[in-house]
Amino acid sequence: MNPVAFIEDRRDGKGSTPQEIAEFVRLAHGGEIPDYQVAAWLMAVFFRGMTRREVKTFTEALSLSGKVVTFPGDIFPVDKHSTGGVGDKTSLVVVPLAAACGVPVAKLSGRGLGFTGGTVDKLESIPGFSAHLDLGRFVEQVTKVGCAISGHSEDLAPAEALFYELRDVTGTVPSIPLITSSIVSKKMAGGSRAFVFDVKCGTGAFMKDKSSALELSESLVGLSASLGRKAMALVTAMDQPLGRWVGNAAEVAEAVEVLLRKGPGDVRDLSLRLAASMVHLGGLAGSPEEAGRLVEEALDSGRAYGKFEEMVHAQGGDLEAFNERAARGGHLADATGVIEAVRSGVVTRCDAKAVGESLRVLGGGRLARTETVDPGAACHVLKKIGDPVTRGEPLARAYFSVDESRWSQARRLLEGAFEIGGEAVSPALVIDTVESGETGR
Ligand code: URA
Repeated sequence: MNPVAFIEDRRDGKGSTPQEIAEFVRLAHGGEIPDYQVAAWLMAVFFRGMTRREVKTFTEALSLSGKVVTFPGDIFPVDKHSTGGVGDKTSLVVVPLAAACGVPVAKLSGRGLGFTGGTVDKLESIPGFSAHLDLGRFVEQVTKVGCAISGHSEDLAPAEALFYELRDVTGTVPSIPLITSSIVSKKMAGGSRAFVFDVKCGTGAFMKDKSSALELSESLVGLSASLGRKAMALVTAMDQPLGRWVGNAAEVAEAVEVLLRKGPGDVRDLSLRLAASMVHLGGLAGSPEEAGRLVEEALDSGRAYGKFEEMVHAQGGDLEAFNERAARGGHLADATGVIEAVRSGVVTRCDAKAVGESLRVLGGGRLARTETVDPGAACHVLKKIGDPVTRGEPLARAYFSVDESRWSQARRLLEGAFEIGGEAVSPALVIDTVESGETGR
């Protein structure tokens, strides 16, 4: 192939054949096309886009560039993917919840990226928990226990990692065809037969407004359907953090509370909606309403918590030790700092991105991919949009092990996150849904 002509065609808005796209991915992954040409092509895609057919070919080439997980033919595993949020611990609830209803859940997760948290980092705050299962063990656990959460293996869709790394440093991440192919190629390699996407929308998300979140949702669902997968996307609000806690161990503790029928209503409600979508796609309910009833019963009866215990145990984690520590606050870092309301009124803004950034400064997230995270760093969001406050009342409390200069930086971010006014409109949690049509096995 002639990479220069291939790049020029994209630059000039001409199409590429499936053979050309597949060959480009194969050569780039094999190191036979230099990074600068791959980067030039990515920038051309950023400006010119790709047709649906081209996105499909590109995604297939990425997903087949490494190993592909295969499940026994008699099970129909479902995966769930969030585009990234702040305080979003729903995977910890949704995975055992859907599994408790009989849906095999094969969840591949990432580490935190930027100001957003990652499920792998959260789970690693449970002593002994192994968040990296080899592929054989992953399949075995999903088959025997009914669910598993594992970090994305480097063996799966390795070409995608190469394209993503180049996108990360060339300003080409926010492109709908590239985001869609990146997400779906990894899900395809993970072997699930149906996908539920939680597309976050708002200041604390990639997609800042409803129309771009809907565009991404339609693209994810349409591509998955064209590749023979059932799919559904929920566009959900990410203007303020989900729940009351942001931070790795703190979010596990809050997810456990939700599984034990305590915990904040927004985490519970969104988890129920996502799990119901998985049960519906998995063919275990005749209607979304029936799926809703099934998941509520599984949560309220304690069966979902039982499945969570089983999954954590199967992955080597000591949930009892975690819960004991959490009950005495030992899962949180020792030093604390508080920010207070400067006037009385109603909280009108509690910016998710600023809260996520403050946690990152406090050591709970990464500034570089290779950094380790402090599981005990946390932010307790005491007031959220719509809550009344009086002057001097605490709005948020931070827990950290870093030095005071980092706390000063985080405090400024937290102070900037809040606005207090006279009246607030509480945002809807689920803004829209997009479905591919067919459901079941
Ligand atoms: N998440 C991904 O996995 N890929 C993207 O391109 C963006 C978000």
